[in-house]
Amino acid sequence: MKKHNFSAGPSILSEYTIRNSAAAVLDFEGTGLSILEVSHRGKEFVAVCDEARSKIKELLDVPSGYEVIFLGGGASLQFCMVPFNFLNQKASYLDTGTWASNAIKEARLFGEVAVVGSSKDANYTFIPKGYAIPDDSEYFHFTSNNTIYGTQMRYDPDVNVRLICDMSSDIFSRPVDVSKYDVIYAGAQKNLAPAGVTLVIVREAALGRVSRAIPTMLDYKTHIKKESMFNTPPVFPIYAALQTLKWYQSLGGLKEIEQKNLEKAAILYDEIDRNKLFRGTVAAEDRSIMNVCFVMTDEYKELEAEFSAYASAAGMVGIKGHRSVGGFRASLYNAMPKSSVEALVESMKTFERQH
Ligand SMILES: Cc1ncc(COP(=O)(O)O)c(C=O)c1O
Repeated sequence: MKKHNFSAGPSILSEYTIRNSAAAVLDFEGTGLSILEVSHRGKEFVAVCDEARSKIKELLDVPSGYEVIFLGGGASLQFCMVPFNFLNQKASYLDTGTWASNAIKEARLFGEVAVVGSSKDANYTFIPKGYAIPDDSEYFHFTSNNTIYGTQMRYDPDVNVRLICDMSSDIFSRPVDVSKYDVIYAGAQKNLAPAGVTLVIVREAALGRVSRAIPTMLDYKTHIKKESMFNTPPVFPIYAALQTLKWYQSLGGLKEIEQKNLEKAAILYDEIDRNKLFRGTVAAEDRSIMNVCFVMTDEYKELEAEFSAYASAAGMVGIKGHRSVGGFRASLYNAMPKSSVEALVESMKTFERQH
Protein backbone atom coordinates (compact mmCIF):
# COMPACT_ATOMS: atom_id res chain seq x y z
CA MET A 1 0.00 0.00 0.00
CA LYS A 2 1.31 3.49 -0.90
CA LYS A 3 1.89 5.43 2.32
CA HIS A 4 0.91 9.01 3.07
CA ASN A 5 4.38 10.59 3.10
CA PHE A 6 4.50 13.63 5.42
CA SER A 7 8.32 13.63 5.72
CA ALA A 8 10.10 16.99 5.94
CA GLY A 9 12.77 16.14 3.38
CA PRO A 10 13.74 14.13 1.46
CA SER A 11 10.04 14.02 0.96
CA ILE A 12 7.12 13.22 -1.26
CA LEU A 13 7.56 13.65 -5.02
CA SER A 14 4.78 13.59 -7.59
CA GLU A 15 3.79 10.28 -9.11
CA TYR A 16 4.63 11.86 -12.48
CA THR A 17 8.21 12.54 -11.32
CA ILE A 18 8.67 9.08 -9.86
CA ARG A 19 7.21 7.17 -12.83
CA ASN A 20 9.16 9.11 -15.46
CA SER A 21 12.37 8.91 -13.44
CA ALA A 22 11.89 5.18 -12.98
CA ALA A 23 11.34 4.75 -16.72
CA ALA A 24 14.54 6.71 -17.46
CA VAL A 25 16.50 4.48 -15.09
CA LEU A 26 15.58 1.62 -17.44
CA ASP A 27 15.89 3.51 -20.72
CA PHE A 28 16.78 7.17 -20.98
CA GLU A 29 14.74 8.62 -23.82
CA GLY A 30 15.38 5.80 -26.25
CA THR A 31 19.16 5.97 -25.95
CA GLY A 32 19.38 2.32 -24.89
CA LEU A 33 21.16 3.52 -21.75
CA SER A 34 20.03 4.16 -18.21
CA ILE A 35 19.96 7.77 -16.98
CA LEU A 36 22.24 6.43 -14.24
CA GLU A 37 25.02 5.69 -16.74
CA VAL A 38 24.89 8.43 -19.36
CA SER A 39 27.56 11.08 -19.77
CA HIS A 40 26.60 14.51 -18.50
CA ARG A 41 28.12 15.85 -21.72
CA GLY A 42 25.97 13.76 -24.06
CA LYS A 43 23.55 15.84 -26.12
CA GLU A 44 20.49 14.16 -24.58
CA PHE A 45 21.44 15.11 -21.03
CA VAL A 46 22.64 18.58 -21.98
CA ALA A 47 19.15 19.10 -23.43
CA VAL A 48 17.60 17.94 -20.13
CA CYS A 49 19.70 20.38 -18.14
CA ASP A 50 18.88 23.27 -20.50
CA GLU A 51 15.18 22.47 -20.45
CA ALA A 52 15.15 22.27 -16.63
CA ARG A 53 16.81 25.68 -16.37
CA SER A 54 14.43 27.26 -18.84
CA LYS A 55 11.39 25.77 -17.10
CA ILE A 56 12.58 27.22 -13.79
CA LYS A 57 12.81 30.62 -15.48
CA GLU A 58 9.30 30.23 -16.91
CA LEU A 59 7.69 29.04 -13.69
CA LEU A 60 9.27 31.68 -11.46
CA ASP A 61 9.07 34.36 -14.14
CA VAL A 62 12.80 35.03 -13.75
CA PRO A 63 13.69 38.41 -15.31
CA SER A 64 16.61 38.78 -17.73
CA GLY A 65 19.98 39.31 -16.09
CA TYR A 66 19.60 36.23 -13.88
CA GLU A 67 21.18 32.81 -14.31
CA VAL A 68 19.89 29.48 -13.06
CA ILE A 69 22.55 26.98 -11.99
CA PHE A 70 22.62 23.50 -10.48
CA LEU A 71 25.24 22.88 -7.81
CA GLY A 72 26.25 20.20 -5.32
CA GLY A 73 26.78 20.60 -1.60
CA GLY A 74 23.18 21.17 -0.57
CA ALA A 75 21.70 24.39 0.77
CA SER A 76 24.33 24.17 3.52
CA LEU A 77 27.12 24.96 1.05
CA GLN A 78 25.19 28.07 0.02
CA PHE A 79 25.42 29.29 3.65
CA CYS A 80 29.13 29.79 2.91
CA MET A 81 29.08 30.47 -0.86
CA VAL A 82 26.71 33.41 -0.42
CA PRO A 83 28.96 35.43 1.91
CA PHE A 84 32.08 34.26 0.05
CA ASN A 85 30.70 35.86 -3.13
CA PHE A 86 28.65 38.76 -1.74
CA LEU A 87 29.83 39.87 1.71
CA ASN A 88 32.61 42.44 1.69
CA GLN A 89 31.96 44.35 4.90
CA LYS A 90 28.51 43.89 6.32
CA ALA A 91 25.29 41.96 5.72
CA SER A 92 22.00 41.65 7.60
CA TYR A 93 20.41 38.34 8.53
CA LEU A 94 17.09 37.38 10.08
CA ASP A 95 17.35 34.57 12.63
CA THR A 96 14.20 32.49 12.26
CA GLY A 97 15.48 29.02 13.05
CA THR A 98 18.23 26.43 12.91
CA TRP A 99 18.95 26.86 9.20
CA ALA A 100 18.96 30.65 9.43
CA SER A 101 21.37 30.51 12.35
CA ASN A 102 23.61 28.07 10.47
CA ALA A 103 23.72 30.62 7.63
CA ILE A 104 24.60 33.38 10.13
CA LYS A 105 27.43 31.30 11.58
CA GLU A 106 29.03 30.89 8.15
CA ALA A 107 28.55 34.56 7.17
CA ARG A 108 30.44 35.64 10.30
CA LEU A 109 33.55 34.00 8.83
CA PHE A 110 33.53 36.63 6.09
CA GLY A 111 32.43 39.96 7.57
CA GLU A 112 30.18 41.79 9.98
CA VAL A 113 26.75 40.28 10.39
CA ALA A 114 23.87 42.33 11.75
CA VAL A 115 21.24 39.96 13.12
CA VAL A 116 18.29 42.33 12.70
CA GLY A 117 15.73 40.11 14.39
CA SER A 118 15.57 36.77 16.17
CA SER A 119 12.86 34.64 17.72
CA LYS A 120 15.36 32.24 19.24
CA ASP A 121 14.28 33.02 22.81
CA ALA A 122 10.77 31.86 21.91
CA ASN A 123 12.07 28.66 20.29
CA TYR A 124 11.44 30.26 16.89
CA THR A 125 7.67 30.21 17.22
CA PHE A 126 7.19 33.43 15.25
CA ILE A 127 8.78 35.55 12.51
CA PRO A 128 10.31 38.76 13.92
CA LYS A 129 8.67 41.88 12.45
CA GLY A 130 9.47 45.58 12.38
CA TYR A 131 13.21 45.00 12.12
CA ALA A 132 15.44 47.76 10.77
CA ILE A 133 18.15 46.87 8.27
CA PRO A 134 21.29 49.05 8.34
CA ASP A 135 21.58 50.91 5.01
CA ASP A 136 25.16 49.82 4.58
CA SER A 137 24.20 46.12 4.47
CA GLU A 138 25.32 44.49 1.25
CA TYR A 139 22.27 42.23 1.37
CA PHE A 140 19.51 40.96 3.64
CA HIS A 141 19.44 37.18 4.07
CA PHE A 142 16.36 35.33 5.26
CA THR A 143 14.88 31.83 5.26
CA SER A 144 11.46 31.95 3.65
CA ASN A 145 10.23 28.75 5.28
CA ASN A 146 11.49 27.34 8.55
CA THR A 147 11.16 23.62 7.98
CA ILE A 148 11.78 22.61 11.58
CA TYR A 149 9.51 25.11 13.34
CA GLY A 150 6.72 25.52 10.78
CA THR A 151 6.86 29.28 10.24
CA GLN A 152 6.91 30.94 6.85
CA MET A 153 7.39 34.34 5.22
CA ARG A 154 5.02 33.92 2.30
CA TYR A 155 6.02 37.28 0.81
CA ASP A 156 9.07 39.00 -0.63
CA PRO A 157 10.08 41.50 2.07
CA ASP A 158 10.02 45.18 1.13
CA VAL A 159 13.30 46.44 2.53
CA ASN A 160 16.03 48.97 1.79
CA VAL A 161 18.63 46.49 0.47
CA ARG A 162 18.79 43.55 -1.97
CA LEU A 163 17.46 40.19 -0.83
CA ILE A 164 19.13 36.79 -0.60
CA CYS A 165 16.94 33.89 0.39
CA ASP A 166 17.12 30.24 1.39
CA MET A 167 13.93 28.89 -0.19
CA SER A 168 14.83 25.24 0.34
CA SER A 169 11.51 24.19 1.76
CA ASP A 170 9.03 26.39 -0.09
CA ILE A 171 10.45 27.06 -3.53
CA PHE A 172 7.74 26.68 -6.21
CA SER A 173 5.03 26.84 -3.55
CA ARG A 174 4.00 30.37 -4.57
CA PRO A 175 4.88 33.03 -7.16
CA VAL A 176 7.98 35.06 -6.18
CA ASP A 177 9.10 38.52 -7.27
CA VAL A 178 12.57 37.40 -8.32
CA SER A 179 13.58 40.95 -9.27
CA LYS A 180 13.99 41.80 -5.55
CA TYR A 181 16.62 39.11 -5.04
CA ASP A 182 20.32 38.82 -5.82
CA VAL A 183 20.29 35.11 -4.95
CA ILE A 184 17.63 32.50 -4.34
CA TYR A 185 18.84 29.04 -3.41
CA ALA A 186 17.17 25.78 -2.52
CA GLY A 187 18.22 22.22 -1.84
CA ALA A 188 16.14 20.08 -4.19
CA GLN A 189 14.90 17.51 -1.73
CA LYS A 190 11.55 19.08 -0.86
CA ASN A 191 9.67 20.59 -3.80
CA LEU A 192 11.89 19.52 -6.69
CA ALA A 193 13.82 16.27 -6.81
CA PRO A 194 15.67 13.64 -4.81
CA ALA A 195 18.57 15.02 -2.75
CA GLY A 196 21.82 15.78 -4.52
CA VAL A 197 21.23 18.96 -6.46
CA THR A 198 20.89 22.55 -5.27
CA LEU A 199 19.09 25.13 -7.34
CA VAL A 200 20.61 28.61 -7.38
CA ILE A 201 19.23 31.68 -9.13
CA VAL A 202 21.76 34.53 -9.27
CA ARG A 203 21.61 38.09 -10.56
CA GLU A 204 24.74 38.31 -12.66
CA ALA A 205 25.32 42.05 -12.20
CA ALA A 206 25.56 41.51 -8.42
CA LEU A 207 28.63 39.30 -8.81
CA GLY A 208 32.27 40.36 -8.83
CA ARG A 209 32.04 42.97 -6.09
CA VAL A 210 33.97 41.27 -3.31
CA SER A 211 37.68 41.87 -3.05
CA ARG A 212 38.75 38.45 -1.80
CA ALA A 213 39.95 35.59 -3.98
CA ILE A 214 37.26 32.95 -4.46
CA PRO A 215 38.19 29.29 -5.02
CA THR A 216 37.05 28.21 -8.48
CA MET A 217 34.44 25.72 -7.27
CA LEU A 218 32.91 28.26 -4.86
CA ASP A 219 32.65 31.05 -7.40
CA TYR A 220 29.16 31.38 -8.89
CA LYS A 221 30.75 32.77 -12.07
CA THR A 222 32.48 29.44 -12.73
CA HIS A 223 29.19 27.57 -12.79
CA ILE A 224 27.36 30.24 -14.76
CA LYS A 225 30.06 30.28 -17.41
CA LYS A 226 30.08 26.49 -17.72
CA GLU A 227 26.28 26.20 -17.58
CA SER A 228 26.42 23.97 -14.49
CA MET A 229 28.89 21.60 -16.19
CA PHE A 230 32.18 22.83 -14.70
CA ASN A 231 32.34 19.53 -12.89
CA THR A 232 30.04 16.51 -13.14
CA PRO A 233 26.56 17.59 -12.12
CA PRO A 234 24.11 15.26 -10.32
CA VAL A 235 22.57 13.84 -13.48
CA PHE A 236 19.72 11.81 -12.03
CA PRO A 237 18.39 14.49 -9.60
CA ILE A 238 18.42 17.00 -12.47
CA TYR A 239 16.45 14.59 -14.66
CA ALA A 240 13.93 14.10 -11.84
CA ALA A 241 13.77 17.87 -11.33
CA LEU A 242 12.80 18.34 -14.96
CA GLN A 243 9.91 15.92 -14.50
CA THR A 244 8.67 17.85 -11.47
CA LEU A 245 8.92 21.13 -13.37
CA LYS A 246 6.91 19.68 -16.27
CA TRP A 247 4.29 18.53 -13.79
CA TYR A 248 4.13 22.00 -12.23
CA GLN A 249 3.52 23.52 -15.64
CA SER A 250 0.77 20.99 -16.33
CA LEU A 251 -0.93 22.09 -13.09
CA GLY A 252 -1.09 25.64 -14.45
CA GLY A 253 1.89 27.23 -12.67
CA LEU A 254 2.69 28.63 -9.26
CA LYS A 255 -0.49 30.64 -8.63
CA GLU A 256 -2.57 27.50 -9.00
CA ILE A 257 -0.11 25.49 -6.91
CA GLU A 258 -0.22 28.11 -4.14
CA GLN A 259 -4.01 27.97 -4.13
CA LYS A 260 -3.93 24.19 -3.69
CA ASN A 261 -1.32 24.53 -0.93
CA LEU A 262 -3.45 27.07 0.94
CA GLU A 263 -6.45 24.74 0.75
CA LYS A 264 -4.50 21.73 2.01
CA ALA A 265 -2.92 23.67 4.89
CA ALA A 266 -6.30 25.13 5.90
CA ILE A 267 -7.82 21.64 6.13
CA LEU A 268 -5.15 20.56 8.62
CA TYR A 269 -4.89 23.81 10.63
CA ASP A 270 -8.69 23.94 10.97
CA GLU A 271 -8.63 20.46 12.48
CA ILE A 272 -5.73 21.29 14.82
CA ASP A 273 -7.69 24.32 16.06
CA ARG A 274 -10.94 22.37 16.41
CA ASN A 275 -9.70 19.10 17.89
CA LYS A 276 -9.46 19.11 21.70
CA LEU A 277 -6.41 16.84 21.66
CA PHE A 278 -4.14 19.07 19.57
CA ARG A 279 -2.81 22.60 19.35
CA GLY A 280 -0.53 24.44 16.91
CA THR A 281 2.93 25.53 18.07
CA VAL A 282 3.53 28.82 16.21
CA ALA A 283 1.97 32.28 15.88
CA ALA A 284 -1.16 31.97 13.73
CA GLU A 285 -0.12 34.69 11.27
CA ASP A 286 3.24 33.01 10.60
CA ARG A 287 1.97 29.47 10.06
CA SER A 288 3.73 27.65 7.25
CA ILE A 289 1.66 26.05 4.52
CA MET A 290 4.54 23.61 3.89
CA ASN A 291 5.35 22.27 7.38
CA VAL A 292 2.49 22.10 9.85
CA CYS A 293 3.76 21.69 13.43
CA PHE A 294 1.45 20.69 16.27
CA VAL A 295 1.53 19.03 19.67
CA MET A 296 -0.99 17.40 21.99
CA THR A 297 -2.60 19.79 24.45
CA ASP A 298 -1.26 19.56 28.02
CA GLU A 299 -4.32 17.61 29.18
CA TYR A 300 -3.70 14.86 26.60
CA LYS A 301 0.10 14.92 26.42
CA GLU A 302 0.44 11.33 27.54
CA LEU A 303 -1.41 10.21 24.38
CA GLU A 304 1.39 11.33 22.06
CA ALA A 305 3.03 7.94 21.57
CA GLU A 306 -0.38 6.33 21.18
CA PHE A 307 -1.44 8.79 18.46
CA SER A 308 1.89 8.28 16.71
CA ALA A 309 1.31 4.54 16.60
CA TYR A 310 -2.31 5.01 15.55
CA ALA A 311 -1.39 7.34 12.66
CA SER A 312 1.39 5.08 11.54
CA ALA A 313 -0.98 2.07 11.48
CA ALA A 314 -3.27 4.18 9.28
CA GLY A 315 -0.42 4.60 6.74
CA MET A 316 0.99 7.98 7.81
CA VAL A 317 4.77 8.31 7.54
CA GLY A 318 7.08 11.05 8.78
CA ILE A 319 4.78 12.99 11.11
CA LYS A 320 7.12 12.97 14.09
CA GLY A 321 8.16 16.53 14.95
CA HIS A 322 11.81 17.57 14.85
CA ARG A 323 13.57 16.73 18.13
CA SER A 324 13.96 20.45 18.96
CA VAL A 325 10.19 21.01 18.84
CA GLY A 326 8.69 17.61 19.69
CA GLY A 327 5.12 16.62 18.90
CA PHE A 328 4.18 16.32 15.25
CA ARG A 329 5.07 17.88 11.94
CA ALA A 330 3.14 17.15 8.77
CA SER A 331 4.94 18.43 5.69
CA LEU A 332 2.50 19.31 2.92
CA TYR A 333 4.80 19.93 -0.02
CA ASN A 334 3.44 20.56 -3.51
CA ALA A 335 3.24 16.86 -4.36
CA MET A 336 1.14 16.03 -1.28
CA PRO A 337 -2.38 15.13 -2.45
CA LYS A 338 -5.34 16.66 -0.65
CA SER A 339 -6.58 13.11 -0.02
CA SER A 340 -3.54 12.41 2.19
CA VAL A 341 -4.22 15.54 4.26
CA GLU A 342 -7.84 14.41 4.59
CA ALA A 343 -6.67 10.97 5.69
CA LEU A 344 -4.53 12.53 8.44
CA VAL A 345 -7.43 14.74 9.57
CA GLU A 346 -9.72 11.70 9.60
CA SER A 347 -7.30 9.83 11.87
CA MET A 348 -7.14 12.86 14.21
CA LYS A 349 -10.95 12.94 14.39
CA THR A 350 -11.28 9.23 14.99
CA PHE A 351 -8.58 9.29 17.65
CA GLU A 352 -10.38 12.16 19.38
CA ARG A 353 -13.65 10.18 19.41
CA GLN A 354 -11.86 7.27 21.06
CA HIS A 355 -10.59 9.46 23.93
C1 LIG B 1 15.24 25.72 5.06
C2 LIG B 1 16.41 24.78 4.95
N1 LIG B 1 17.62 25.27 4.66
C3 LIG B 1 18.70 24.47 4.56
C4 LIG B 1 18.61 23.12 4.76
C5 LIG B 1 19.84 22.28 4.64
O1 LIG B 1 19.82 21.71 3.39
P1 LIG B 1 20.92 20.67 2.89
O2 LIG B 1 20.73 19.44 3.67
O3 LIG B 1 20.59 20.53 1.44
O4 LIG B 1 22.26 21.28 3.10
C6 LIG B 1 17.36 22.55 5.04
C7 LIG B 1 17.24 21.10 5.24
O5 LIG B 1 16.22 20.57 5.59
C8 LIG B 1 16.24 23.42 5.14
O6 LIG B 1 15.04 22.92 5.43
